[in-house]
Amino acid sequence: MASLLWLLVWAAGVIWILVLGTAVYATGISRGPVDDRVANVMILAGGVFLPTLVLGGLVTWTVWTMSGLRVPDEQGLRVAVSGEQWWWRVAYEGPDGNPVASANEIRLPAGETVTLELSSPDVIHSFWIPSIAGKMDMIPGRVNELVLEPTKPGIYRGVCAEYCGTSHALMAFSVVVMEPDAFAAWLAEEARPASASSAHEGLALFLENGCGACHAIRGTEADGRVGPDLTHVASRKSLGAGILPVTQAALEEWITHTREVKPDARMPPYDMLPEAEIATIAGYLASLK
Ligand code: CUA
Repeated sequence: MASLLWLLVWAAGVIWILVLGTAVYATGISRGPVDDRVANVMILAGGVFLPTLVLGGLVTWTVWTMSGLRVPDEQGLRVAVSGEQWWWRVAYEGPDGNPVASANEIRLPAGETVTLELSSPDVIHSFWIPSIAGKMDMIPGRVNELVLEPTKPGIYRGVCAEYCGTSHALMAFSVVVMEPDAFAAWLAEEARPASASSAHEGLALFLENGCGACHAIRGTEADGRVGPDLTHVASRKSLGAGILPVTQAALEEWITHTREVKPDARMPPYDMLPEAEIATIAGYLASLK
């Protein structure tokens, strides 16, 4: 792309000088009318032949260069990321080939090629991890592939970079780049069902109040697909797509003041529940490491 850019800059520069030179010659240096035959040759050469040659050549070279931008065959780990209203649905290609559902955080192995499959069910979002790769749109009805290779372990911030509705600015995520061994261990752990006891009173309340219709907690009866998968929610760096810490207090705040924290979020606030029940549910979620 850089060589294409420089060729265009040089070609445009040469043509610019030619055109200005002709104009200066015609208005300043040359006196008197030009011979008809010379004029016809100039119009044909400069108006038809030269543009056809230059534009044809540039188009050919551009198309030829584009083939080099095709996604490489070696695409490594695949992670599907979907832009939702206003959070990120994430699914890893698991150790056994089955997808591992997660949300609002992306973990990647350092030094390895990763292909992110970007999509959206409804409106256009733009997926952007400034420290690692350029922006790419998430467009309903298609899957855009972003191939990247993070090199340095660390925690990076990702954002939505295209206005997508009321809480567009509250749609962030963390990217955790890990050493490959640590990543493999983490993915194996993430693929497992929830670790918390299924006898936890918070789980009973979670199911009783219908939370499981929208959220999945693998290993329990909760298998909703509308909202974020919560199987390991407490092991994530943030809650609510990059806006709250993962603490008991933040979980309670989210459950009861959902739409103050994130205007127009699909989840309704559950502030009608008794405080003790909220605390028990939040306590259960905080134990889902
Ligand atoms: Cu999603 Cu802006």
